Amino acid sequence: MSRLLLVSNRLPVTVKADKDGVSVVRSAGGLATGLRGPHERSGGLWIGWPGDVSRLTPQQRASVEAQLAELRCVPLYLSASEVSRFYEGYSNRTLWPLCHYLIDRIPEQERDWDVYRKVNERFADLVARHYQPGDTIWVHDYQLMLVPAFLRARLPQARIGFFFHIPFPSSEIFRTLPHRADLVRGLLGADLIGFHTITYVRHFSSTLMRLLGLETVVDRVAYDGREVRLGAFPMGIDAQAFENLAKEPAVLEEVRTHREKSSELRLLLGVDRLDYTKGIPRRLLAVQRLLEREPTWRGRLRFVQVAVPSRTAVADYAAYRDKVDELVGRINGLYGSVHNVPVHYLYRSFNERQLTALYRAADVMFVTPIRDGMNLVAKEFCAARPDEDGVLVLSEFAGAADEMGDAVMVNPYDVEGMADALEAALEMPEEERRTRMRNLRARVKEYDVHWWVRSFLDELQATPTPPPRVE
Ligand code: UDP
Ligand code: G6P
Repeated sequence: MSRLLLVSNRLPVTVKADKDGVSVVRSAGGLATGLRGPHERSGGLWIGWPGDVSRLTPQQRASVEAQLAELRCVPLYLSASEVSRFYEGYSNRTLWPLCHYLIDRIPEQERDWDVYRKVNERFADLVARHYQPGDTIWVHDYQLMLVPAFLRARLPQARIGFFFHIPFPSSEIFRTLPHRADLVRGLLGADLIGFHTITYVRHFSSTLMRLLGLETVVDRVAYDGREVRLGAFPMGIDAQAFENLAKEPAVLEEVRTHREKSSELRLLLGVDRLDYTKGIPRRLLAVQRLLEREPTWRGRLRFVQVAVPSRTAVADYAAYRDKVDELVGRINGLYGSVHNVPVHYLYRSFNERQLTALYRAADVMFVTPIRDGMNLVAKEFCAARPDEDGVLVLSEFAGAADEMGDAVMVNPYDVEGMADALEAALEMPEEERRTRMRNLRARVKEYDVHWWVRSFLDELQATPTPPPRVE
């Protein structure tokens, strides 16, 4: 089998330096958590950014590098200015809000394009240095949209796949970007471009037509003397791993503790990076609305919201955090008592085991992004329920909604409707809960991350290698 070179901005581990020294910790976010297993099983490399290493001593840096090498991770270091202009700047102040339909959040004057381009070129150079003939290269996500074309110029014969992990927006939104055509041409350097849903594929095809006049025939586009394929590959999770964890005695013990602490209460759970696409404020308002209009739920509901710190140097994320803090305070002030508060807000990251215990303890999982490429948390919740209980309330604007028709679907902009759905979920008869959960689990287990990797890579292997160029 050929070697797999994974390329993403964030490595599956991030360097953490604090007063206790330096260590590498697991990265959060769907891309890193999803691809970690496949990488461990392949003999290949993962090339990406290990986080900020600027304050490390040379010895600490050497120790980090040894740990990364052990994990077959190749670091690409970003300078402080690259972090601010490539990562926080163009990637997360422009592309991220744009692809989530939030164009009002984009800076009026965009100044970071040149650094975005430069860093993408650095990624391509590093990949080309590690490439051996026969390797398969798989590039990931919106931070690296130009890498396929830079790689194609360096390695004309290479097999290159690209996967876009966030929504690809309507061409009406995408064409507002000043560098729209460069980005699309960047992606077309790949042999196969994958998205989570067929809707994102359609949006990409109409963008190709509108910006470059390129027609997609079924799933193929002729470009620059090559054929580029497009496809929908909904990403899955390592369902078996979550199920195994959910059956471990230590995890079950933790579940019991969670349930004991709220024995008279129903447990409602939210798990997200603290990101303005995740719809946390309206989710909180829906909880508030339920408590307001149905006094019988007061004192009987505990909403645990895990919010993982994310992109904290970006102003919109800091403002979002303030907004969420304020809402949590308001609801707890209104409906808390001397002994209890309705919202337990945890601003930190949890590991898989701790998350699994929370998933398994919850009565209702509340997943309400205003837009989300896929949302793996929704799938993890189902995988962690071998007891076939628990209700998933899911936003219709998450990519996962296409596959998870047995969830209670909500419009995340409709607070009153979400309060209704929450109440229906809390009161759902056991038989209906089980039927829905059984169906959800069957889907999550069959279309897991292994299926996703296999189907993408099989399709990539089936693409013809480009004919050698005659100079
Ligand atoms: N996650 C984590 N620790 C936490 C909360 C979340 O490792 O405290 C993981 C979670 O298990 C999931 C990923 O982060 O695999 C989030 O992926 P998702 O697709 O739901 O959203 P994203 O963060 O990629 O937008
Ligand atoms: C989403 C993106 C990933 C990203 C992750 C975490 O899942 O699709 O590309 O890695 O969020 O965000 P961060 O900015 O911390 O890498």
